[in-house]
Amino acid sequence: MVLHNLLEYFDLKRWLIFFFLFLLLVDIIRNKNPPNFPPGPWRPPFVGNILTGVDYKSIDKLHKQYGDVFSVRWGSNKTVFICGYKMMKEALVTQLDSFVERPVIPLFDKIYKGRGVSLSNGYMWKMQRKFVITHLRYFGEAKKTLELSIQQESVFLCEAFKEEKGPFNPQFYLNTAVSNIISALVFGHRFDYHDERFLNIQRLLVEAVSLAGSSQANLYNIFPFLFDYLHGPHQKMFADYFAILDFVKDEIRKHKENLDPSDLRDYIDAYLVEMEKKKSDPEAGFDLDTLACATMDMFEAGTETLATTLRWALLFLMGFPEIQKKVQAEIDSVIGQSRQPNLADRPNMPYTEAVIHEIQRKGNILPLGFPKRACKDMTLGGYFIPKGTSMTTNLSSVLNDKNEWETPDTFNPGHFLDEQGQFCKRDAFMPFSAGKRVCLGEPLARMELFLFITFLMQRFTFSPGPGEELSLKGQLGFTYTPMPYCMCVIPR
Ligand code: HEM
Repeated sequence: MVLHNLLEYFDLKRWLIFFFLFLLLVDIIRNKNPPNFPPGPWRPPFVGNILTGVDYKSIDKLHKQYGDVFSVRWGSNKTVFICGYKMMKEALVTQLDSFVERPVIPLFDKIYKGRGVSLSNGYMWKMQRKFVITHLRYFGEAKKTLELSIQQESVFLCEAFKEEKGPFNPQFYLNTAVSNIISALVFGHRFDYHDERFLNIQRLLVEAVSLAGSSQANLYNIFPFLFDYLHGPHQKMFADYFAILDFVKDEIRKHKENLDPSDLRDYIDAYLVEMEKKKSDPEAGFDLDTLACATMDMFEAGTETLATTLRWALLFLMGFPEIQKKVQAEIDSVIGQSRQPNLADRPNMPYTEAVIHEIQRKGNILPLGFPKRACKDMTLGGYFIPKGTSMTTNLSSVLNDKNEWETPDTFNPGHFLDEQGQFCKRDAFMPFSAGKRVCLGEPLARMELFLFITFLMQRFTFSPGPGEELSLKGQLGFTYTPMPYCMCVIPR
């Protein structure tokens, strides 16, 4: 009877209003913040702060408004941002075990499915990460293979630069050069600078990384079920990554065909042997799918980051010719022109080291780091953050923290020099992040930056192409990259 009266009373319009109010109530209850949750801008129901940009400039504005710990809601995903050196240290170093997990990021989960190193969690992550670190050490330090292959690649890169007759854009030469180092390590061989298949992989990689940072593609993270059926940049990004994954799988297949367990040539060989050993421990994830993801991880992380840093390096050195001259003067006095730079030169070249660090600080290539997840209830900056909350580390706010750097907005190698002109480390230098998820490629990246930059500066003077207006402002995709530029190289 009651039901009958209710149906009589409600016409379609009233039903719709009732349904909307019901959904609103569910949204409010589901997304209610716990007491003392970090503050943030007002979140409209259903969509949250969907109109708030995901770029670090919009995030910087919120940082100024809400302080070092604040929150933003995209769809029903809440993310807490951590900003400034002191808060970052508290989160990543002091509370070391609180942020070791990655959240599920639908845009990447579609490809990686929680495998590999960068996006895995728990026991599998521990085992995969340990394996990569052990093998980077083995090939890097014990066998000295890496130093040698970087030195050889520097020569190829110089030859390629010399062949250019006029001004040129160095982007794909630099991508190929650094990609060849990781290829030598992982695949056991390098690729020619004119190898069309490899160049295509580089183009796909650059495109995929740029698309991954676009606001449009990020809508996929908010409404994955809806966007799975829609066209857009996310579909192009998936296609790019799957093509790169096929390329990696092809390399793995060739390795399997002629594997000799008594003569391990590279990372893939070592992994294939480990797969046999770990058969009784499936949780560790040593299988062909994880190998492909872990290998793509290293290939991607080791290419895009370093190539972008080298592009910043050349740009800053052209933009500040007096700094370029001082680096060259140090190279001439410590190394001379008759031999190639090697890693043993590094401690004797404080000015060059300071310039490289300042390039990384101002280059700021991963302004928002890589997402994390609180793996237990915790308190940060006086706020309560429940287990499972997504966290974003605003590395840009650390590299530009006004309390830590004397002239944060200026390119100033003096940030890393003491009064005697000796190199000094700075705690707020965190381009590789910190804590248990810290970049595991840091030692390799340091080697490459030092050897490539010193060799290029030993051989050439760099200047902008005629009429080229250099812009020191970058553009933001997943990484922060320089605008495309053309340069001239003058042999020294
Ligand atoms: C200038 C060069 C590089 C920079 C600035 C850089 C920066 C970073 C940052 C900020 C993270 C995120 C750390 C976090 O979540 O807290 C990361 C993670 C990672 N990087 Fe790098 N990276 C560089 C080069 C490399 C290289 C050469 C490799 C190759 C071996 C590499 C492999 C990785 C991997 C596998 C992770 C994920 C680690 C994990 O989740 O446990 N990176 N990197």
